[in-house]
Formats: sequence, structure tokens, C-alpha cells
Amino acid sequence: MGMEAPQQDIQKEMAAEAALDFVSAGDVIGIGTGSTTNFFIDSLVKIKSKIDAAVASSEVSAERLRAVGIRVIDLNHAGELPLYVDSADEATSNGYLIKGGGGALTREKIVASACGKFVCIIDTSKLCGILGSFPLPIEVIPMAQGLVSRRLVQMGGTPVVRERFQTDNGNIVIDVRNLDLTDPLRVEQELNCVAGVVENGIFGRQSADVLLVGGDNDVRQLNL
Ligand code: 5RP
Repeated sequence: MGMEAPQQDIQKEMAAEAALDFVSAGDVIGIGTGSTTNFFIDSLVKIKSKIDAAVASSEVSAERLRAVGIRVIDLNHAGELPLYVDSADEATSNGYLIKGGGGALTREKIVASACGKFVCIIDTSKLCGILGSFPLPIEVIPMAQGLVSRRLVQMGGTPVVRERFQTDNGNIVIDVRNLDLTDPLRVEQELNCVAGVVENGIFGRQSADVLLVGGDNDVRQLNL
């Protein structure tokens, strides 16, 4: 979103590079979406002969993986996976996340759910005390746009439909500000009970198992 300071990119790249330590020979790896994950894909190229294949959480990541010669397989042909590597828009130090800035939240949550370990790679700007400064993305069936928006207002939120955007699943994204996310697990569940909501970007039940936080000089590893 917008121009990024080069320092932030360096931090993302460092976190991405550190995630290579979690890759084992013969793995099929779950891969997220976004600029930090792109750095991970670039790093993965160096050890691509070591892995078996990847399962991508978006069409754009699948294309990028194929372009660098990494085999991409369908989740339905992969079964349970050992490792999911992805970034986030916000992360608390206990591993709760907001994801979906790139709009891939539903597939990201599906692939993360199929993986034994979620290694989340972020730069320091993503770490926060309480989730919610970043607008929460919600994937919604198009015909339910008005209904879901009204329910979000009733919950105290300020919804904005993401313009000129369609998810890989053919749906819209509503970004919502001002929801109280002090109890992310409760809100995650509550939002998914609204008819028309496909998935929301709170990764509470599907929190990170490891946070790799790229800093100015090193990468901090939080095991959760
Ligand atoms: C995409 C995501 C991304 O992980 C999130 O938006 C972070 O992106 P970036 O690595 O570009 O900062 O959830 O749906």
C-alpha cells in the first residue's frame, strides 16, 4: 500500500531469508501472498532443488513460483503440509494477525490451516500491541455487500468497499475500521457468522507459530 521506505524492504528481505531455516528436504511448502512473501519466493529459488513443490495462496503467487521454476500443486493433491510461510499486515507478539491487505485472506487461511507450522515473516512496522490500526479486510459474496456493511456498522465498524477489486474467488473485499479487536478470537468468529461473509482477515485461531521480525540489524524470532 503506497510507497515504502527501502529500509522496510530490507527488513522484509531479512525476515524472508531467515524463514529458509524452516524448510526441510522434500517439503511441499504453503506459500502466502504479498511483497514480503515475494522476497521469500526469491530466496527459495536458491534451494528449489531441495523442495518437492509449493501450494500457493493466490494466483499471483502461483505465477511467481512457476516463473522461477518451482512446481505448484493444488491443495487437494497435497494433503497436510509441514510449513506455511506468509506475512501479515499487523501482528501481536502472541501471534494474532490481521491479513488480507492483498485480498488473499481466504485462501491464505485455508492453506495456513492445512500446514503444521505457520512461520510469519514481517518487518518491525507490523508489530503492534492490539490489532486494529490496519483496516480489517473481509471477503464478502457480492450480493451481500449492503447487508454485511450494515451488520458491520451495527458492530461499531466503519466499512469501505475496496474499489475495483475482485478476489481470486470472484468476491469483493470490505475493509472495516474501528472494530474493537481486543478479543480477536471472539470477533473472528462473530464476523464469520454474518451471512455473506466468506472469511475475515483476523488470524486468531490460525495464528502464527513463529514470528520472524526483520529489524535494522537482525531478525528476531518469537516462538509462540
Ligand atoms: C495478503 C496479505 C499479506 O501478507 C499482507 O498484506 C502483507 O503484505 P506485504 O508483505 O506486501 O506487506 O495478507 O493478502
